Amino acid sequence: MIFMKIVGFSGSPRKDGSTNTLIKRIFKKAEDNDYETNIFYLNDMNINPCQACGYCKENEGCDLDDAMKNLYEEIENADYIIIGSPIYYGEVSAQTKLFTDRFYSIFNSKTKNLDNKKVILVYSQGNPDPQTYIKYIRHQNKFLYEFMGFDVIDTLIASGINSKEELLKNQEILEKADEISAKIE
Ligand SMILES: Cc1cc2nc3c(=O)[nH]c(=O)nc-3n(C[C@H](O)[C@H](O)[C@H](O)COP(=O)(O)O)c2cc1C
Repeated sequence: MIFMKIVGFSGSPRKDGSTNTLIKRIFKKAEDNDYETNIFYLNDMNINPCQACGYCKENEGCDLDDAMKNLYEEIENADYIIIGSPIYYGEVSAQTKLFTDRFYSIFNSKTKNLDNKKVILVYSQGNPDPQTYIKYIRHQNKFLYEFMGFDVIDTLIASGINSKEELLKNQEILEKADEISAKIE
């Protein structure tokens, strides 16, 4: 039997908000298949900013002793990772940025091979036009995720959304989430 692990990382501080709801919705197909799913709320975790100390260039791993120690393992052991963030002032939330900057020690690792790890990106934004931040989102895909060697299999932009209630009324976005969910196989 095939067994897979799907791990979500949410950069939204709102537990019952749209970002978390979308990540969990994307878990659906994996859960139907009895794959393991787990969501980490970055807002609740002790994640320090990258110190650019250079430790990871000379050694394996990161010198900071915080929640990332566990999250590095989670990323390494996952078949799919889902990274979700609300859009704040045209960019990802600070919680998300703290997390993704810390990818640097994975980038510098001589032993970790994350090439082609499958990544699904989720963005939730109040602005109704999904094209508004598209340049930024493409930039993230290219200069962060693809640069890291991740295989971005899909990007969901939930536009015109400010709450879970608004999301649950938006059939188009929910269907797109279900389509992405079906790709986890
Ligand atoms: C500090 C802050 C800044 C925001 N900036 C933007 C923005 O630049 N563009 C936008 O479309 N929505 C913006 N929003 C709205 C959020 O992106 C939107 O409400 C999103 O759905 C929140 O996701 P959540 O439900 O997971 O919390 C902002 C919200 C906050 C709290």
